[in-house]
Amino acid sequence: MEIIRILGIETSCDETAAAVVENGRVILSSAVASQIDLHAQYGGVFPEVASRQHIRSIYPIINAALRDAHISLQEVDGIAVTRGPGLPGSLVVGINAAKGLSLGSGLPLLGINHLEGHLYSAWLQNLGADLPPEPQFPLLALIVSGGHTELVLMGAHHSYQRLGATLDDAAGEAFDKVARLLGLAYPGGPAIQRAAVDGDPQAQKLPRAWLPGTWDFSFSGLKTAVLRLVRELEANGEELPVADIAASFQEAVVDVLAQKMFAAAEEFGAKELLIAGGVSANQALRERILAEAKLAVHIPHISLCTDNAAMIAAAGCFRFSAGLRDGLDIDAMPNWPLSELE
Ligand code: KG4
Ligand code: ZN
Repeated sequence: MEIIRILGIETSCDETAAAVVENGRVILSSAVASQIDLHAQYGGVFPEVASRQHIRSIYPIINAALRDAHISLQEVDGIAVTRGPGLPGSLVVGINAAKGLSLGSGLPLLGINHLEGHLYSAWLQNLGADLPPEPQFPLLALIVSGGHTELVLMGAHHSYQRLGATLDDAAGEAFDKVARLLGLAYPGGPAIQRAAVDGDPQAQKLPRAWLPGTWDFSFSGLKTAVLRLVRELEANGEELPVADIAASFQEAVVDVLAQKMFAAAEEFGAKELLIAGGVSANQALRERILAEAKLAVHIPHISLCTDNAAMIAAAGCFRFSAGLRDGLDIDAMPNWPLSELE
């Protein structure tokens, strides 16, 4: 079998990342320079600070990915880079680095949709682990990240039908905002998960937006309900039951995500399920879906749920194998729906 190795580059948000992946599934290296500490003081990602930091980190990270994979640039088959969606000033740093490498080496360039990248993280073998079973189509995918919450029917490689999406906050955004209300650190998802361990998920009655008849989501009502609860408790001089609120909030999000995903899979005759994106690292969500799913479930290893470049390289490998190529004229696509891919 022919071996294809792709260098992936990811700078869509606050992680500068590069990786080398073989045949779309085997990680030869994955280097990530996280900017979390830099943005924590602002309580969220500060776009201008993010792009400047990407500029500082991009070449050291690409070099680290090639060095860790014990490979030279000439030995890879193509360069995959995130084109969007993401922060414009961050995306262009990775895109320009990839263009420079492509121009200098003559290697083909592949522009990757970040959400497609998240989906392909489920194809990846984690370092040291066995190769996971390959997802089978048609599959129903739930993408839950800081910027997106979408239910997608994937009929084949690179073929996506968006069934629904959030009408307001993304699931990860809701985690981040509620964490802030509770005085927890950024990023909020992991902080809420930790706080929820000691809490009772039934302690607080919080609303769930089912939006019947649609495959859409809404999390702003839930966030507002937490805000009201926090204000009320503070006005009464009561101490915040942080663990209980975190657990009840997490349960409300997991309820809606899991149930709508199962219902959509049934409605559209999906064969298997896949969850991806930063929020798919959430233990409660993973456990619920694994416990209640009637179909096989593909979930990336926790270390591959949040932004990384291995997933971009993996998506690039499958595109490369399908004969797809992009030119040096590709631009950043800050808003780029998955359903517009070809
Ligand atoms: O996919 P990602 O790394 O970046 C985007 O593409 O947005 O997702 C980041 C989001 C953040 O909102 C973060 O709070 C959330 O994923 N997240 C989690 C967990 N780990 C990260 N949310 C819930 N539970 C977690 N364990
Ligand atoms: Zn992401």
